[in-house]
Amino acid sequence: MALISLQINGEYVTSEVQDNLLLVDFLRDNLELTGTHIGCDTSQCGACQIHFNGEAIKSCSMFVLEAEGGSVTTIEGLSKGGDDLSRLQKAFQEHHGLQCGFCTPGIIMTAVDLLRTNKNPSKKEIREYLSGNMCRCTGYQNIVNAIKSVTSEPN
Ligand code: FES
Ligand code: FES
Repeated sequence: MALISLQINGEYVTSEVQDNLLLVDFLRDNLELTGTHIGCDTSQCGACQIHFNGEAIKSCSMFVLEAEGGSVTTIEGLSKGGDDLSRLQKAFQEHHGLQCGFCTPGIIMTAVDLLRTNKNPSKKEIREYLSGNMCRCTGYQNIVNAIKSVTSEPN
């Protein structure tokens, strides 16, 4: 066991954890931040995508001890809860960018990362950036449309 301190969605958290605890399991099981999903055990699906120190990462590919002193943002950190959604989350609602919703938190965290570095990505660039995120339901078109709608040139 070891002691870890880090920032999660703007709050400081200190906790005793197993040395081999994955960040995704810490978020879900220890902190009950279950918006971060687990869709595989091979770091391929992107359902567990979060931001660590401002960049999107797969939280199943990192031990929580590696996050010591860092800053984590999960899907819960993008809004204040309830109907107070971020602009991108609202765009997913408006453009039907989800069906079962399992992939959606990971995809939104990836999209926020893309829009941080590229304010007006083309649809091709959006698809390329989402290559590490799998969706089994939507066929991706409405996801791309939702992300494109919040860029400076939505069409
Ligand atoms: Fe992390 Fe699938 S659960 S990539
Ligand atoms: Fe079901 Fe993407 S909406 S997996």
